[in-house]
Amino acid sequence: MKKSGQRSNRVVIIGTGAVGATTAYTLFLRERVSELVLIDANHDKALGEALDMNHGMPFTGGVKLWAGDYSDCADADIIIIAAGSNQRPGETRIDLLKRNASIFDSIIQNIVKYNNHGIILVATNPVDILSYVSLKKSGFPVSRVIGSGTLLDSARFRYLIGQNKKINPRSIHAHIVGEHGDSELPLWSLANVAGIGLEFTDEEREDIFDRTKNAAYEIINAKGATSYAIALALDRIVVSILQDEGSVLNVSTLLENYNGVSDVYLGVPCIVDSSGVRQVLDLELNDEELARFKASADKLKEQIASLDL
Ligand code: 2OP
Repeated sequence: MKKSGQRSNRVVIIGTGAVGATTAYTLFLRERVSELVLIDANHDKALGEALDMNHGMPFTGGVKLWAGDYSDCADADIIIIAAGSNQRPGETRIDLLKRNASIFDSIIQNIVKYNNHGIILVATNPVDILSYVSLKKSGFPVSRVIGSGTLLDSARFRYLIGQNKKINPRSIHAHIVGEHGDSELPLWSLANVAGIGLEFTDEEREDIFDRTKNAAYEIINAKGATSYAIALALDRIVVSILQDEGSVLNVSTLLENYNGVSDVYLGVPCIVDSSGVRQVLDLELNDEELARFKASADKLKEQIASLDL
């Protein structure tokens, strides 16, 4: 939220389905921005969400929130893309590629018509590939096209490790890297509390990673879509950008000569500040992790090659 004397900031959210609307509500409740704009192909949906949130204004702070159009991107610091189809039970994120890639053409064209200075933050799945598509179609520098990546997966991982160790997940450092999807991998060798490595049995590792990787399937089967934790992950990225924090977050970024991987977006630890992804941190992977990381990259590159970019 803007303090007096502080410049106003604006976040635009494109797509007001479960993820977009919940992200808006999270930013609104936590008063992260001074202006929040909702855009949806179905303008009535954006209007309804904006009205519903605005009626809560007497109980919250002063975030100015409205249903707008692409011209509102002109003054945006961050444009979050959450538009598109989400998975139906049994579908993978990759299954959404053709459907969602087709709407990115017009979304990106509409953004760049009004904005060439902001940061594009992609949440639509398959998020790594659509972040790559956004980079290519926008002409923005790499630092300013970010995917939500494996930040959510890493949060799920930390939560489950926390449950296992009976330690608050905020005190657990642990990373999931690679695709935000079925080929992602856990970096067990880096999992620690206060710099102290964590011990697990093979069964515990398998159980924790399976539940991390399959969390979205479990939630989609139970309630149709995921929304709350991804909204909090997007909130975390937004704050790191707007407050120039320099937090280390496992977002998706373009990798070049990174552990043998190039020209693909994947989730890895990055320093995120007001410039976007300021730096990608080097990871020392063991042989098994390296092979899995490359396989994750190859899987996404094969899908990218099938697109008309
Ligand atoms: C999630 O992991 C479905 O990608 C979404 O919650």
